[in-house]
Amino acid sequence: MADVSRRGLITGGVGVAALGAGFGAGWVGHSVADPADTGLVTPDAAVTGDETIAFYGDRQAGIDTPDQAHAVYLAFTLREFVDRERLQRLMRILTDDASRLTQGQPTIALTDPDMVRPPARLTVTFGFGQKVFELVGAETPAGVGDSFPAFSIDQLRPEFSGGDLLIKVASDDPITLSHVARVMTKNAKFFATVAWRQEGFRRARHAESSSTTMRNLFGQKDGTANAALGSDALAAQVWGTGDGFSPWVDNGTTFVLRRIAMNLETWDEVDPSGRENSIGRTISTGAPLTGSDEFDEPDFDARNDLGFTVIDTAAHIRRARDSDTRVRIHRSGYNYDAGVDAEGVADIGLLFGSWQASITEQFVPIQQALADLDLLNTWTTPIGSASFAIPPGAQAGGYVGEQLLG
Ligand code: HEM
Repeated sequence: MADVSRRGLITGGVGVAALGAGFGAGWVGHSVADPADTGLVTPDAAVTGDETIAFYGDRQAGIDTPDQAHAVYLAFTLREFVDRERLQRLMRILTDDASRLTQGQPTIALTDPDMVRPPARLTVTFGFGQKVFELVGAETPAGVGDSFPAFSIDQLRPEFSGGDLLIKVASDDPITLSHVARVMTKNAKFFATVAWRQEGFRRARHAESSSTTMRNLFGQKDGTANAALGSDALAAQVWGTGDGFSPWVDNGTTFVLRRIAMNLETWDEVDPSGRENSIGRTISTGAPLTGSDEFDEPDFDARNDLGFTVIDTAAHIRRARDSDTRVRIHRSGYNYDAGVDAEGVADIGLLFGSWQASITEQFVPIQQALADLDLLNTWTTPIGSASFAIPPGAQAGGYVGEQLLG
C-alpha cells in the first residue's frame, strides 16, 4: 500500500478490489493476532453509566461539572396564557422530572422506565429568558434577551436564537439524553412551544483520559485556558464569589449560547502555520506559540528575529484575553455536525457556551474585542445567539426558580 498514491486512490487508479483486499487483510490479521484489541472485550471496570451527579444543591448542576460527551440545548417559547402561577407549576413539574431522571429514576408520569438508565452523569440545567422576568415584574439581568448587544460579525438566524426558557440536558449516553430531552419537551408542551433545539458532542467518554482537553472540529484543543472545575477562580467567574462581578442573584449565574458555523472548506486550504498563527497555539499539543506545553502561559510580549510578536496581534487567544483578570468566562464548547449539502459542503461548527456571573461585564467585552479583530473570524460566523439567567439550584421539596417565581 505504501507506494499507492492518495490521488490514485481517489481517481480510481487503483482497483477498489485491491483497496478492499488490503484493508480487509490488515483488519483480519490484526484481530487474529490480538483478540483483546478488537474492542469486543470490555472490562467491567470501564462501565460507568451508573454514575450520577447530584441534582439538588445551592447551585444548579451542569455548570461547574465535567462536560459530558453529549448535550442538547432546548429553548422554549412560553404560551400566551402562561402567567406566574402557571410558570410555577411548569417549573415544579420539570424540577421533579429532572431530580428523578438525573438519578436514574423514572418520572411520576413516565411510561417507559427502561429508558432512564444508565443516567451516565446526566444533568438538567434550567435558564430563564427575558419573558420570565417580565411575567413576574422583575428587572431582567443585564445582557439577557433584548439587552444582549448585536455584533458586527453576527449573521443570526431566528431558528437558533432567543427563547424564554432554556433546558440544557447533558449526558455521556446519547440514548438516555434523547429520551430525557423528549420527556422534558413532552412535559413542557402544555405551557410552551419549542423555539429551537441544538445538539452537540465532545469526545466519547473514556476515548481519552478525562483530563485531556477536547478538540473542536478545526482540530484545535478547545478549553485549555479555562479555570479548573471546583476552583476559586472558576467560582469567581461563574458565581461572582471573591472579587468576581455580582451575579443577578446569589448562587445564580448567566449563560450565553452562540452557534458558530465553521467553514471547513476554506480552513482546509490553510497551511499548518497559518492555522496556528490564527489562534496563537500549536494545533497538535495546544501549547502557546511561545511555549512547549499546553498549559504554559502564553508570552504575548515575546518577539521573533524580525521583531514581530510571536503571537500575532490579531491571534484569537491574544484578542480574547482582557487585561482585566476579572473579565474571564467559563467556556463549554460542544461540536455540532448537522450534515452536508449535495456538494459535500459540511454544516459544521461549535455550540459555544459561556458561563459568567455578568454577561455585560464579562462576556460582552470579550466578544466585542473578537468582533473588532480576530484572525479566526476568517473562518467562523455566529449564526445563533441566546442568553439566559441561570437561577440557583433547588432543595428537595422545592423547585428551580422559586426565589424569582415564588
Ligand atoms: C468557532 C468559534 C471559536 C473557536 C473555534 C475557538 C477556539 C479557541 C481555541 C482553540 C482557543 C485556545 C485554547 C483554549 O484556551 O481553549 C480559544 C481560546 C479562547 N477563546 Fe475561543 N473559539 C471560538 C469562539 C470564541 C468566542 C465566541 C469567544 C468569546 C466570546 C471565545 C473566547 C475565548 C477565550 C476567552 C479563550 C482563552 C483566551 C486566553 O488564553 O486567555 N472564543 N478559543
